[in-house]
Formats: sequence, structure tokens, C-alpha cells
Amino acid sequence: MDELRDLVEDAIKGSTVFEKSKVLTPDYIPKNLPHREKQIKELSINFREILSNPGSTSVRVVISGKTGTGKTVTTKKFGELFSAIAKEKGLKVVYTHINCHRQRTLYLMLVEIANQLNLQIPNRGLSSQETFKLIYDYLEKRNIQLIITLDEFDYFVSTSPVEDIYFLVRIYDELNALVKRIHYIFILRELTSLASLDKSIKDHVIKNVIEFPPYTSDELYDILMDRIVNEKAFREGAVLEETVRFISDIYGIDKGGSGNARLALETLELSGKIADTEGSLLVTIDHAKKANSKINPELSIILDTIRDLDLHQLLVVKAIMNLHKKEGDDFFPMGKVEEEYNIVAKDLGEIPRKHTQVFEYIRKLKLMGLITARQSGKGMRGRTTLISLSVPISEELDNLINNEIRDRLLQQKNY
Ligand SMILES: Nc1ncnc2c1ncn2[C@@H]1O[C@H](COP(=O)(O)OP(=O)(O)OP(=O)(O)O)[C@@H](O)[C@H]1O
Ligand SMILES: [Mg+2]
Repeated sequence: MDELRDLVEDAIKGSTVFEKSKVLTPDYIPKNLPHREKQIKELSINFREILSNPGSTSVRVVISGKTGTGKTVTTKKFGELFSAIAKEKGLKVVYTHINCHRQRTLYLMLVEIANQLNLQIPNRGLSSQETFKLIYDYLEKRNIQLIITLDEFDYFVSTSPVEDIYFLVRIYDELNALVKRIHYIFILRELTSLASLDKSIKDHVIKNVIEFPPYTSDELYDILMDRIVNEKAFREGAVLEETVRFISDIYGIDKGGSGNARLALETLELSGKIADTEGSLLVTIDHAKKANSKINPELSIILDTIRDLDLHQLLVVKAIMNLHKKEGDDFFPMGKVEEEYNIVAKDLGEIPRKHTQVFEYIRKLKLMGLITARQSGKGMRGRTTLISLSVPISEELDNLINNEIRDRLLQQKNY
């Protein structure tokens, strides 16, 4: 008993390689963004008309780049700097950042924009049109220029009705406002995700494209060093230079890596944690190697997606996992998954959703890359759709899903 208490106390008191570990968290916006100066400059040039000639034009910019290339952080930084400079010039520019993955419907996106504007939306079930009108009137009354960044716009495009996409992209032009007040930044992983759109919408969106290439090893080195030295994530001298080099070389695009800064930063943070558990005052290559073997890139992206799922989508995933455990197979007919889903839902005191809704969940999970579907060969009863999880079913995944389900159920109760 006391031995364990001592262990906990020692660990709390114990040495650490970290100084300001919060600067390594994913949402932290650092002061510098090494190797994104060019993109920030391009953004500024695209938007400078708002300051020099406000109201004359509605700006649209597309940002495209693979995961972890700094699209989100760079755009937020730009928004922060740009609105501050506007303020110094006596102009009101408000920057709003919407994650389409979190605000999954047009209406929720509009409510979030209103929130970020500090505009109260009445709680009496307004339509998207009415909400948009409220926002627009608010901008007019206060003489505000609004920049709306639609982050993960690919997701919105792949899951929303065409009318909603059209509304979002075109409505403002159709208002024919004399003074232009609304400007857009669309963030996409792939430009090709717009391929399914109508030409008229596409032409509207794709105007100025700013590319975010994957980082090279030298670039990642600078990004990591900036967090270590300037942002003081670690105690001075705690991280060996060769460790930073090692991590940069794993992920640099020129060294066969993915060029993903998020994974490089995660690996650095985890290396520090491993050094702490081992009671080491230095973060060595050996720690980085251990960290690297723990970080499975594919998994870390998927795990992020899971945190955004609804309760019943999670239950569908759980149903597939249950079947896998029971039968050892990977692919299951849709009907079987639905049966298992009904059982899982009832066990948790939830009313199972109807067939069409379950079908819709499966379609969305497929779009998110969480499940894979294929047609069965022709059998006695004709073709059926077989589905499987796209990620290995591990204990970690199992725990995550169970925790998320528990959280959702608790949230419902507290509502
Ligand atoms: N040039 C940079 N300088 C400093 N930090 C960076 C830079 N680029 C990316 N990062 C950091 O790397 C992580 C990933 O960046 P970000 O979230 O902006 O990527 P993203 O392109 O939006 O990825 P995704 O497509 O997955 O959303 C963040 O922690 C961010 O702060
Ligand atoms: Mg992003």
C-alpha cells in the first residue's frame, strides 16, 4: 500500500524534461510558423483589398495540402494577425474558423459563426436562411467584414446535400449586396474532393489556390527546434540535437516520410514522456525510437475521427467489433451488422435506429474511411454488401470506442 503511495509521490516530485509542455498540444498556436511565411504572404495579398478598399469585393481562397502540413494553424494565425492589423487601421474584420467535421450541418455552422461573432441566436428553431439573415444584418449594423474559414471542407462536400453546399457558397452573391462583407477560406486535403460538385459551384470555389506541401526533414527540424528553443517546451538542453534530427528524418517527405508536422510533434512529446518515465534528464534517440514505435500514423488519424462520431455511429462500429470477436471474420453482411447493432443498442437502453438510418450511418463511416465495403460474390441469395472495419481491431481501439460511448451516454443523461 505505502509502497504504491511512495511511488506516486516520487513520480509527482520527480524530475521532468519538460518546461512548458502545453506548447506541444495540438491546439497551441506558436508565435512562429517556420516555412509557412510564403503561404501567409499569399493569404495577405489575397485579402489586402479588404483593408485598402473595404466592401468592394468578396474574397475566396482555397487552401490545399495533406494532413499535418499546417493548414489549420497557419490560417488561424493569419486570421489573428490580419484582424489585429485591421483594428489598428480602425476597421472591423472578424475572423471565424469553422471545423466542418465538428459543425456537421449547415445550420450548426451558421450557429457557430454567430457564436464566434458574439451574436445571440434565438432558440426558436430558425431556418438556415433566417440565421444567415441575422448574421448578415449584424455585420451591416456594425460595419464588420467577416472572414469565414471552412476547415475540412472536403468533409462538408462529401456528406451534405447539394442545396446546402450551394447555399453556403452562393447565397452571398445572390444577395447582391452593395457592400461586400463576407469572405471565404476553404481548407481541403485534396482539390479532387471538389470533383463531384457542379461546375458552377466549383468555379466559384476554386479561385485562388494556396498549396501547403508536405514538410521536408530540414523543415521539420526547424519546426521542432522552434518549439524546443523559442517556445521552451523542454528544459534547456534536455533534448539532444541528434534526437530532433532523428525525428525529422523519420517524417521528412524527402526521406520517405509523410511530411506531417503533427506526427513529428507528437513523437517529440512522447519521447519526452518516455524520458520522464525512465527518469532520464535527457531525451535521447532511444526515447524517440520507442516513441515512434508507439505512434501508428494511420491509427492516430482514425482515432481523431472517432472522437467526432455520434452515439449511434459508435454503436455501429461496436457491432462490427463484436462480430469480429465472436466469429473471427473480417467482413460481415450488412444485415448481420444491423442485427448486432440492434442488440448493442438495446443492451444500452437505446432505441435502435431504423434501417434507412443505419444504412446512412454506414455510408458516412465509409466516407470517413473507418469502414470498408465490398460486394459478395454471387451466391444463393444474390449479391450482398459486406463490410469491415478499415483499422486493425486492437485493445486500444476497443477501449477508445467504449469510452466514447460512455461519454455520449453520460452527455445525454445530463442534458
Ligand atoms: N510551419 C509550422 N510551424 C510550427 N508548427 C507547425 C507548422 N506546421 C504545422 N505545425 C503544427 O503541426 C500540427 C499540425 O498542423 P495543422 O493542424 O495545422 O495541420 P493541417 O494541415 O490542418 O492537418 P489536417 O489536414 O489533418 O487538419 C499542429 O500542432 C501545428 O501547430
Ligand atoms: Mg487541419
